[in-house]
Amino acid sequence: MKKKIFLAGVGGMLGEAFYLEFSKDYELYCTDKDVNEKWLHHLDFCEKDNYKFEVKKFNPDYLFHIGAFTDLEYCERHKVQTVKTNTDSVITAVEISNNLKIPLLYISTAGIFDGTKEFYDEKDLPKPIGVYASTKYEAEKYVVNNCKKYLICRAGWMMGGGPKKDKKFVQKIIKQIKEGKKELFVVNDKFGTPTYTFDFAKNTKKLLESNKYGLFNMVCEGKTSRLEVTKEIINILNLQDKIKINQVNSSYFSKTFFAERPNSENLINSELDKIGLNLMRPWKETLREYINKYYLDYI
Ligand SMILES: NC(=O)c1ccc[n+]([C@@H]2O[C@H](COP(=O)([O-])OP(=O)(O)OC[C@H]3O[C@@H](n4cnc5c(N)ncnc54)[C@H](OP(=O)(O)O)[C@@H]3O)[C@@H](O)[C@H]2O)c1
Repeated sequence: MKKKIFLAGVGGMLGEAFYLEFSKDYELYCTDKDVNEKWLHHLDFCEKDNYKFEVKKFNPDYLFHIGAFTDLEYCERHKVQTVKTNTDSVITAVEISNNLKIPLLYISTAGIFDGTKEFYDEKDLPKPIGVYASTKYEAEKYVVNNCKKYLICRAGWMMGGGPKKDKKFVQKIIKQIKEGKKELFVVNDKFGTPTYTFDFAKNTKKLLESNKYGLFNMVCEGKTSRLEVTKEIINILNLQDKIKINQVNSSYFSKTFFAERPNSENLINSELDKIGLNLMRPWKETLREYINKYYLDYI
């Protein structure tokens, strides 16, 4: 008989990869407050009693708490809602996990560091610098200190979901190209480690199936910058002669992207390496796969 997983907040970019990877071998109950797929059921995980009720009813072997508010500017403007969504709901998830005696998966982020170091591994102490980062780190700490059996996987710059779901950098660049822009303005002072949703979902699956628990950085191989990612997108799309990139620093976008972001969000997967379970591929390889899979018909 297949093991059962209850997934909360899987209507977004990462959720899609989790659904596609895990549905092959597990019985899933996928939920989100935005029911944008036929495989999703409605659940607002901030509604504590409903969350508890629905998970208990499904009687799963694992609880995956995936969703969050991920728009940094929205989080800055809606602090109370963000605390409820990104921290308080995770406290509920821990309670459910402990009561039902099932492991909890929580997704954390490279964004919880202040960006003053070049690289961060699992031993480095986070120092969040904005509402999104603080609420995610509070949740991470709560899981570590209170959950009896947990897996925390930290992602970096998420790539996945395609035109329908990707709200992040790759989609923002490709959208401008689709709109016919011949000149792009790209920051040259932000560094990070891209994270392809499908590699992340596969690596999480491998960890669970190896019965490994704890805290793991889980990003693609190789550090890079927003600028280099943009150059690579243009290479992959063969648009080197058609699009000009203008380098700017972050202050150029300070009105639109007013939430402070760390200069470095580079993670190293030290713990995955240590146990020989680092399946994350080089970011350029996964970016190419991502674009070929989702964007060739879109452009
Ligand atoms: N995106 C990144 O670059 C990144 C990097 C590192 C870690 N992460 C983490 O990865 C996880 C997945 O994020 P993602 O990239 O897939 O973001 P996403 O595309 O924004 O997906 C998050 C999903 O959570 C849902 N959600 C929010 N509040 C909810 C609630 N109260 N009840 C049920 N569902 C709710 C959202 O619905 P609405 O769209 O309706 O709000 C959305 O469908 C998050 O925990 C995030 O913090 C993301």
